[in-house]
Amino acid sequence: QPEEPAVAAPIGPQYKEEKPEATVSTPIKHSNVHILPQTPQLIALLTMIRDKTTVRGDFIFYSNRIIRLLVEEGLNHLPVISHPVTTPTGRSYQGVKFEGKICGVSIMRAGEAMEQGLRDCCRSVRIGKILIQRDEETCMPRLFYDKLPEDISSRYCLLLDPMFATGGSATMAVEVLISRGVPEERILFLNLIASPQGIQGFAERFPKLRIITAFVDQGLDGKNYIVPGLGDFGDRFYCI
Ligand code: PRP
Ligand code: URA
Repeated sequence: QPEEPAVAAPIGPQYKEEKPEATVSTPIKHSNVHILPQTPQLIALLTMIRDKTTVRGDFIFYSNRIIRLLVEEGLNHLPVISHPVTTPTGRSYQGVKFEGKICGVSIMRAGEAMEQGLRDCCRSVRIGKILIQRDEETCMPRLFYDKLPEDISSRYCLLLDPMFATGGSATMAVEVLISRGVPEERILFLNLIASPQGIQGFAERFPKLRIITAFVDQGLDGKNYIVPGLGDFGDRFYCI
């Protein structure tokens, strides 16, 4: 697969004139792909989890911080309705509240790493699971199991998977959700790192679904691993 050219930009706060160059996300033109702002903080967090010398405890800590940013951004994409309240000063405040019910759906195993970040923002959120594993030889996804909330068709679904390489696993998961009656426009896919070729095809195939990612990387290697990537997320989060 061809690799996209790296995109470099000066990274640092406005007040500093001299800024180091860092690789930032490949831009994507599709309007349903939302890439987190490439702030110095996000790039520093991504640098930690990409570094092969980062030990597991740090990998978990810094991944969790990025996951929190993704969840917070994902919640900005949910519709709200008017909700005026009266404050203790007796004045009124014209506010809003979320319109509908939500649920999380994690693609096991790596997607489960994102569940706590969702729970930290949405207390007692319902979470469904879909076990899809990529065949190590062919890279084709295989669906083994799913367990989803019964009323999922009436909820907004935050689909969780940190790595999006060929897109086979996420595509299969979205097809499961659609087959259970979830309208495409109620699915938000939260992802840490995506390949440009994968994410473009996915965005075109599901134009009403929203993708919120921290970074679109340069491409895929011969084994369909994201490059420069971070290796195997599940292994680094749970095993090594
Ligand atoms: C990883 C990752 C995605 C998938 C991405 O999971 O978490 O689900 O690969 O690759 P794709 O876009 O080419 O489908 P994997 O199947 O390796 O299982 P794991 O979560 O147990 O690590
Ligand atoms: N799964 C991962 O964990 N990493 C990749 O780069 C591709 C699939």
